[in-house]
Formats: sequence, structure tokens, C-alpha cells
Amino acid sequence: MSAILEALGVREVPGGACTGSWIATSGPELASVNPSTGETIATLRQAVAADYERVAVAAQEAFLTWRMLPAPKRGEIVRQIGDELRRHKDPLGRLVSLEAGKILSEGLGEVQEMIDICDFAVGLSRQLYGLSMHSERPRHRMYEQWHPLGPVGIITAFNFPVAVWAWNAAIAAVCGDTMIWKPSSYTPLTAVAVQHLCNRVMRANGVEGVFNLVIGSGREVGERLLHDTRIPLVSATASCAVGKRVGHAVSERFGRAILELGGNNGVIVMQDADLELALRAVLFGAVGTAGQRCTTTRRLFLHKPIAAKFLDRLVKSYGKIRVGDPLDPETLMGPLIDPSAVDEMMAALARAKAEGGKVLTGGGRIDRPGNYVEPTIVQAPLGLPVARDETFAPILYVFEFSDLDEALHYHNDVPQGLSSAMFTDSVRSAETFLSVLGSDCGIANINIGTSGAEIGGAFGGEKDTGGGREAGSDSWKVYMRRQTSTINWGTELPLAQGVKFEV
Ligand code: UN1
Repeated sequence: MSAILEALGVREVPGGACTGSWIATSGPELASVNPSTGETIATLRQAVAADYERVAVAAQEAFLTWRMLPAPKRGEIVRQIGDELRRHKDPLGRLVSLEAGKILSEGLGEVQEMIDICDFAVGLSRQLYGLSMHSERPRHRMYEQWHPLGPVGIITAFNFPVAVWAWNAAIAAVCGDTMIWKPSSYTPLTAVAVQHLCNRVMRANGVEGVFNLVIGSGREVGERLLHDTRIPLVSATASCAVGKRVGHAVSERFGRAILELGGNNGVIVMQDADLELALRAVLFGAVGTAGQRCTTTRRLFLHKPIAAKFLDRLVKSYGKIRVGDPLDPETLMGPLIDPSAVDEMMAALARAKAEGGKVLTGGGRIDRPGNYVEPTIVQAPLGLPVARDETFAPILYVFEFSDLDEALHYHNDVPQGLSSAMFTDSVRSAETFLSVLGSDCGIANINIGTSGAEIGGAFGGEKDTGGGREAGSDSWKVYMRRQTSTINWGTELPLAQGVKFEV
């Protein structure tokens, strides 16, 4: 552990807030607990209201200078952060595994996702394009430009403790925003390590207060951030219930929110699908990250003619999943984040059984230190009520359907709308799934699974998933403010729409 922190340049675990310089926070102690052993990795003191205030003031002050640095120069600094991440990919990936419990390959993948979004943001820093329009008036020019927005709040979850921060931070930084990161209380150490890394780069560039960190409770820090009128945008990755509170609080003060909330992602396997592909994708989607991705495959819809055969193979594959220490290269599934997550999984399974579901494999806790459970498949009648909820655990509900219309109806009949996939070799089925008649999710894939999206696309979903979009495509626009300008270079003052107003 100390070797990992040493490699990341973290000599001591300092306070729970940082603006470039660490603040000696005085709040209650927070322990970072290894979910695969239940042991404390390290402790730190959380931020209190006064610490938050210092961070907010620093972010606001830094914005005044950061916004004046040309965007490509900001991009150059983000490029250096990407390079620093490349140099520290291994120890940071290990720390993610230790603290969040995901397997090493996924821990490393998460850091790669950070590197990728930095690269994306560097290119973007020269492409923050606005449109120019043809004015209806002679000798007038109309165009729009994008200005930096201000200090941005970034609230992240334990399951992607650093990558989701990077999706927001790299984009916000090139857009000219400063930011305040409130990480999950389950994963403070990875946040501290990333902050150290940013500090080194920023110090070398003589800049402070762009990347800020504040670790603290929802009441002490989170609520303040949500209600803070100095923060024009809050980007939150959270459960639907928490996201609702975030959305209300931020919109009440006319702030903007990017909400990336729960998913309840379905895969439809048609009888003409490549079943090999489908099997591998469902396995990774449902079991990967121990079912703790917002993109995890939670519902599987099998076309009746192939259902029995596919399910039989899937159950056999589940039997081969190696559950254990996330840092062991043989392991495919690590622990859940904490004991209450295990209880929630067991409660969902009890409900599933009471509602008519049948556990085909798994279903239990694993008797060893840490929060280990068995990956579980539940055979369910269409419309099983518990399957409408997102339980953050490796439970896969499997349904059978007769035709495409039935599959699409039940697929969309849940409150959430994040990710979705269909496996088929039929153009007609695939195009129906991707059409307005098909999936109602923010992400819809053909012949690949629901999780593991690339950063180049816009990431997020509809309905209770919150409607926000982060990462690639034109998601950057939410991090800036649009200004439409019309310039009259003539000697007349014609009014639009032909209105006359003369004395
Ligand atoms: C999340 O679980 O909050 O698409 C994000 C994926 C990852 C990101 C998941 N790239 O599964």
C-alpha cells in the first residue's frame, strides 16, 4: 500500500481539501476501507463548512485568470495531465482496485479512460466552435461564441472513482472553467492521489485553484455545493434518489445540472444472433465490476427459440467466474463496496423469489472477509416488479419473449434509460432497435454489450437516468455559456421582422 502511494507521489495523506495547497481540515475522521478485506487502508479528516468556503473562494478567484488563458494553452496543460496519468497508470490503477474493489484490469482501464479523455480534451481545446448565421438584415453579421462558465461542481460515485471525474474535469478545464470535486466517501484516497498529480502539473505551470478537491459529508459539503450560487453547473453521478435532490436544489437557483444517474440496462438476444458474441457480452456486462456499473447489464431478454440453450450456456459460464482478490490477475469479480450493498442484494433476491423469480445460479454471500457475493441469475416472468429497480449488485434477471414488439415493450418499461443492446444479424431488427420505435435509452448498441462505453461519445441517459451527457461528442457545450452576437457594419438601423419605429 505505502509503495503504491509512494509511486503516486503521496508521501502522507494530507487534509480532506485542496486548492493546489492542502488545507488542514478539521472535520470527522473518514476511513478508506478495502472492500475485499474490510480493513482500513488510511484515514483522513473531512472538510467542514469553513473548508468548503475556502475552496469555493479559491475556485472563483482562479476562474478570473484561467478563463483568460487561451483555450489551446489550457489544452496544453491538460495534455501534461494526460502524460502524468500515463506515467502513473499502474499505481493509480492498483489504488482504484484496492479502494473500489474492481479487478486490476478494470482499475487500469479506468486510468486509461482518464488518459483518453485528456487526449480528447486537448483536441477539443482548438475546436470549441460556434456557428455563424446569415442575418436577415443587410450589412449585419450574426454569430455565436462560447465563453467559460465558472467554477463547476463535480460529484462522483465510488464505482468509477477517478474516470468520471476526468470526463468532467478535462472538458471543464479546456472550456476555461475551474472546478470543485466532491468524491465519494468510499474512495477518498484515489481522489487524493489524482489531486496530487494535478497539483504537480499545475505548480509547474504556475497555476493554482483550477482543480480543487473537497472531501466531506453530504450535509457539510454536498448541500453547500448544490445551493452555492457561485457554482453555475453541478455535474453529479449518483443514484436516481440522490440525483433527484441534486436536480431540485440546483434548478431552484437556476443553476445547471448534468445528472448521470441509475441505469437498468437491458440486452435483447434475437434468435438470429451470434450467440457466442452475445454470451461474452452479457457475461462482462452483468458480472464485470461486480454489477456495480451504472451501465451493468441487469435485464436479459431471450427470444424463445434460443432461450433454453443460451441460458444453459450462461449458467455454465457463471460457474467459471473466479471471485476473489481484485488484484489477483486470475480474478474476474471482486467484492461489493460495503456490507450494506450485500444486504441490499440479498433483500432484492428475497423479493425476486417472492414475486415469482427463480434463482438459477448464485444467490448467496460468500463466507470470507470482505463483501463477497456470488454472481446471480434469476429466471423471471416478464414484468417482474423488482426488476424495475437498480440494485447495485451482480443480479441478472432473465426473461423470455415471443416477438420483437414484446421485447421492446418490456425493455423500455422501466423508469431508467441509460444503456441498452441488441444482438442480432438481422438489419431489420437492428434498425428497429435503433429507431424511434426501439430503445428509449441514451446509449443503444448492436452486437456489443451495455457497459464499457468509449469516451468519444456523449455518455448519459433518459428518464430517471437524469438526461445529462458527459464526456465526448458535443457534451462540452454544457460547460460553457453561449452568446449570440449581431454586428451592424452599415449606416442604417433596420429592425428585425420589418418593424418600423421612427420619430
Ligand atoms: C458509471 O458506471 O458510472 O460505459 C460509468 C462504462 C464506463 C463508464 C461507466 N465507461 O461502463
